[in-house]
Amino acid sequence: MNTDKLSDRLAAVAKYVPKDARLADIGSDHAYLPCFLAKNSGITFAIAGEVAHGPYQSAKSNVAAEGLAEIISVRMGDGLEVIEPEEVDCITIAGMGGALIKSILENGKDKLNSVKRLVLQPNISAISIREWFIDNNWELVAEEIIEEDGKIYEVLIGEKGNPHRPYGAALDKGLLMGPFLVQKHDEIFTKKWSAEKKNWQRIYEALEDATETAETIEKQQELINKIRLVEEVLKNEES
Ligand SMILES: C[S@@+](CC[C@H](N)C(=O)[O-])C[C@H]1O[C@@H](n2cnc3c(N)ncnc32)[C@H](O)[C@@H]1O
Repeated sequence: MNTDKLSDRLAAVAKYVPKDARLADIGSDHAYLPCFLAKNSGITFAIAGEVAHGPYQSAKSNVAAEGLAEIISVRMGDGLEVIEPEEVDCITIAGMGGALIKSILENGKDKLNSVKRLVLQPNISAISIREWFIDNNWELVAEEIIEEDGKIYEVLIGEKGNPHRPYGAALDKGLLMGPFLVQKHDEIFTKKWSAEKKNWQRIYEALEDATETAETIEKQQELINKIRLVEEVLKNEES
């Protein structure tokens, strides 16, 4: 991978960064995304934030090697603390779990005043982000699902607005599977949720063989609820 050609996953994130964005890429690792955008999309200011020393050094040396130090400021720090107030209007956070992305947003709320768009790519648990959007008045405005190297990734784009708008009456389904992705239900979506359903069914059956406790009963109920939601959506697609 280099800064001229992104992975399909990061390309799906890059697509949603406005050309004139003032960007912060949090958890930037090699800084591939801001380097690519500075070279190919025309953004003129970006922060590459990193909490870990190795990735921070790697981001720093890539930015220097590309001659992009005037445009990309590489900063070490936890989450949004690397951003000064009003400094950016777009934030990307990619390649982490949904719960971690959610906690980064929650802990850095004071830095979101000037931010118009969030482009988030959770590796798992996109539901955590959709829930956070609802609780914090961010409206999900688009979603992508892509497959690369046998893994399936979702990209969630949020803007300030009416957080309930995309869901209509189908909140539970939308939170779990993504309202735009449910609507589109392409092959990758079907593949992801068929596999999740199979996995939940396996866990459910394993719990049937385990000693029954209040906890196993609750877990089974939770699994049944999720399996039903997924079945409803996949059935609609087949009809
Ligand atoms: C798997 S990498 C993803 C790199 C890149 N964003 C991508 O999608 O390819 C996750 C990176 O996030 C960084 N990270 C994790 N928690 C962070 C936090 N709270 N603040 C800043 N960076 C963080 C890690 O050090 C790691 O380099």
